[in-house]
Amino acid sequence: MRLLCASTFLLALPAFSRLLTSISELDDLKYDFVVIGGGTAGSVLANRLSEDGRHKVLVVEAGVDNANIQDIIVPFLGPGAFNSLVDWNFTSIPQTEMFNRTIPLPRGFVLGGSSSINFMTWNRGSDDVWDNFARLSNDSGWSWDSVSRLTPPSDGHNTTGEVIPSAHGNGPVLTSLSGFATELDPIVSGTARSIGGRFKYNEDPNAGDMIGTSFVQNSIGHGARSSAATAYLVPILHRPNLDVVIHSRVTKVRASYPAQNDIPTIDTVEIAHSATGPRIEVTASREIILSAGVFGTAQLLMLSGVGPKEELEKRHIPVVVDSPDVGKHLVDHPLLANYFVVNSNTSFERVLRNGSIAEDLLGQWEANRTGLMVDPAAGNTAAFLKNPADLFPKFDPSSGPKSANIEMIFCNGFEPLGPTSLPSNGSFMTVITAVVSPTSRMNLFSFISDNFSDVFIGGTLTLNSTNPFDSPVIDPRLYSTEFDIQTMVQAMKDVDTFVSESAWEGYIVRPFVEFSNDEERAIYARNNSITVNHSVGTARMGPGDGTDGVVDSSLRVKGVNGLRIVDASVYPQIPENHPQAVAYILAERASDLIRSCHFE
Ligand SMILES: Cc1cc2nc3c(=O)[nH]c(=O)nc-3n(C[C@H](O)[C@H](O)[C@H](O)COP(=O)(O)OP(=O)(O)OC[C@H]3O[C@@H](n4cnc5c(N)ncnc54)[C@H](O)[C@@H]3O)c2cc1C
Ligand SMILES: *[C@@H]1O[C@H](CO)[C@@H](O)[C@H](O)[C@H]1NC(C)=O
Ligand SMILES: *[C@@H]1O[C@H](CO)[C@@H](O)[C@H](O)[C@H]1NC(C)=O
Ligand SMILES: *[C@@H]1O[C@H](CO)[C@@H](O)[C@H](O)[C@H]1NC(C)=O
Ligand SMILES: *[C@@H]1O[C@H](CO)[C@@H](O)[C@H](O)[C@H]1NC(C)=O
Ligand SMILES: *[C@@H]1O[C@H](CO)[C@@H](O)[C@H](O)[C@H]1NC(C)=O
Ligand SMILES: *[C@@H]1O[C@H](CO)[C@@H](O)[C@H](O)[C@H]1NC(C)=O
Ligand SMILES: *[C@@H]1O[C@H](CO)[C@@H](O)[C@H](O)[C@H]1NC(C)=O
Ligand SMILES: *[C@@H]1O[C@H](CO)[C@@H](O)[C@H](O)[C@H]1NC(C)=O
Ligand SMILES: *[C@@H]1O[C@H](CO)[C@@H](O)[C@H](O)[C@H]1NC(C)=O
Ligand SMILES: *[C@@H]1O[C@H](CO)[C@@H](O)[C@H](O)[C@H]1NC(C)=O
Ligand SMILES: *[C@@H]1O[C@H](CO)[C@@H](O)[C@H](O)[C@H]1NC(C)=O
Ligand SMILES: *[C@@H]1O[C@H](CO)[C@@H](O)[C@H](O)[C@H]1NC(C)=O
Repeated sequence: MRLLCASTFLLALPAFSRLLTSISELDDLKYDFVVIGGGTAGSVLANRLSEDGRHKVLVVEAGVDNANIQDIIVPFLGPGAFNSLVDWNFTSIPQTEMFNRTIPLPRGFVLGGSSSINFMTWNRGSDDVWDNFARLSNDSGWSWDSVSRLTPPSDGHNTTGEVIPSAHGNGPVLTSLSGFATELDPIVSGTARSIGGRFKYNEDPNAGDMIGTSFVQNSIGHGARSSAATAYLVPILHRPNLDVVIHSRVTKVRASYPAQNDIPTIDTVEIAHSATGPRIEVTASREIILSAGVFGTAQLLMLSGVGPKEELEKRHIPVVVDSPDVGKHLVDHPLLANYFVVNSNTSFERVLRNGSIAEDLLGQWEANRTGLMVDPAAGNTAAFLKNPADLFPKFDPSSGPKSANIEMIFCNGFEPLGPTSLPSNGSFMTVITAVVSPTSRMNLFSFISDNFSDVFIGGTLTLNSTNPFDSPVIDPRLYSTEFDIQTMVQAMKDVDTFVSESAWEGYIVRPFVEFSNDEERAIYARNNSITVNHSVGTARMGPGDGTDGVVDSSLRVKGVNGLRIVDASVYPQIPENHPQAVAYILAERASDLIRSCHFE
């Protein structure tokens, strides 16, 4: 039996709200809702659950304030956030299919979470992504809706043919097309229109069908990053029924009283500023919502005794719920930078090489929000492709026909993504390729032959110690299947096909690296890939009440009451797109589900 909605009395509300910088500033330790993590999903929940003013909400964020940090405001400077004070600096363990290289796995350590440090690409996911969520969770309520609002690009250019405005909504996150045209834009869109087929031009990838070549939309408004912090959280910090505390890490969640009918009710959150510092406890009379992200959530569940029994016993953690899927099914999109030497005077590595050019451009951004700095250090155009039919005949692990296997992003400069450092001379184009329907997850054989064997090939997250301030052991198992590496090789060849069209004549000087066969390509991919930083799945959603999945389709943690998970760890399959919009939409729906329980 599952208790659907706990009914309790409303708590008295305090007179004002604050952005608290220390747990010592918390006075009343009782709330209706406690949200763990003020990141992408957590900020949405903070807003929606405090909206009608009747419930007292606390957000506990481990990281720092987002205000006044230039690298997370100015789009082009975004990569400056990696390995800085706003990054958790996670790293994978050596990847056996990648010559034992370790891969950096950044995550936002700041209000807004990873939406404050990401590359800002905005994809709300194909119709198939959402239908597949519904299928895998056995709940038809999972269908997409819009959380964003399209704004004009910074340069005010005519966007006819580059976006379908009617497909967009009126939500708080500001989105726009790139605001600084590059020489690549007409070449890429022209090539797509002329060769068609797998590369066909797609007027708007956010209108339900992602397949084809398109102009990229970003979570940017008026030339500045629009994050969960700027769109959802900062505007509501004045609400008297909301407290947000930063620099504060949740170290455990637990039940404060004995289980009823064997089902414990999680109602207490333990918080600390440092590993050796004092712990304080806060209680939630209605629900605790875990939004600590794909690495933080699984780690915290295990520290709290919710996880695979053998894993918990290894660390002498008392088992609250044996939940085998916690930390399993971790999956990410492998990424490779394909470099070309090009005939250009405007490609952006000149800015990376020369501080005074960068200063001038920043001055321009400050003066009137124009120029190179209004866009991410990425591409204005991208393509989502299906594998050719003969690569893996009859095998397509994507969510459906409107979702891709491969992505290509066309960048007007040298993107330092991986081991190759910026050459001291030369002009470059980077074509990023990514495998967006990776099979390095679970039960590959079930896809291929309906053979439901238990061959586990997915990534994992496990504890390295019981200290909540230690990093977990993260193994995304990149390229652990033939499909994934062969699809990357296909993507590399697709790039060559695309840029050998006539529109590129005179522009491409030569590929930076030459390959003579697919074997060489595969070795290069294994030796040079990183990820698109799209890890998901460590607490996935599953149907019904069974042990398949950590949460049910209403995102309630199976086996306990009072605890939900709302973040990218619950995705039942990795979306074939950049996943931030999926986190926002998930959190909007979760808010509706929670409100329907408690907002009578
Ligand atoms: C570098 C990078 C680039 C990316 N680029 C893109 C892109 O261009 N487009 C796109 O769509 N997606 C992109 N993504 C992915 C996307 O940003 C994430 O999938 C999404 O933001 C995840 O949201 P979330 O709510 O699950 O987690 P997060 O937004 O990461 O939020 C988790 C929050 O919980 C906090 N937290 C963690 N543990 C604790 C704890 N114990 N106690 C208290 N607080 C805690 C964290 O500090 C963080 O604020 C990128 C991600 C990264 C890191
Ligand atoms: C990440 O690394 C940077 C640079 O070393 C450091 O300043 C920052 O504090 C680190 N982040 C965390 C959460 O420790
Ligand atoms: C990777 O590491 C494993 C374990 O240490 C070792 O057995 C293997 O030979 C290494 N592989 C490569 C390519 O270095
Ligand atoms: C934008 O371009 C389209 C197609 O080229 C054209 O029909 C339309 O008039 C233009 N709009 C403006 C405001 O210039
Ligand atoms: C680059 O600049 C040089 C010198 O100004 C000019 O001759 C050349 O045509 C330019 N090349 C391109 C591709 O614009
Ligand atoms: C950097 O660019 C400026 C022009 O903005 C130029 O005057 C200067 O010589 C360049 N410096 C180097 C080292 O190339
Ligand atoms: C913006 O400012 C730059 C100088 O910083 C100037 O060259 C440019 O013309 C301005 N653009 C607009 C649209 O005002
Ligand atoms: C850089 O300069 C060297 C020496 O002139 C030249 O050989 C090399 O091809 C250049 N590299 C690029 C990428 O242009
Ligand atoms: C199913 O897959 C397993 C693991 O590879 C294999 O041992 C078994 O023979 C397969 N069974 C069938 C019927 O193909
Ligand atoms: C796990 O902990 C050990 C001992 O502190 C440390 O040497 C190792 O690097 C840690 N592993 C990971 C993946 O963090
Ligand atoms: C992998 O790349 C490194 C340089 O980053 C190079 O030294 C090494 O030879 C490469 N290994 C293979 C197998 O290509
Ligand atoms: C992913 O993270 C790495 C490591 O911090 C970073 O170098 C890279 O630019 C990021 N890539 C994307 C596409 O977010
Ligand atoms: C899926 O839902 C239907 C009805 O809503 C139910 O009959 C069925 O048992 C569910 N399946 C699983 C696996 O939970």
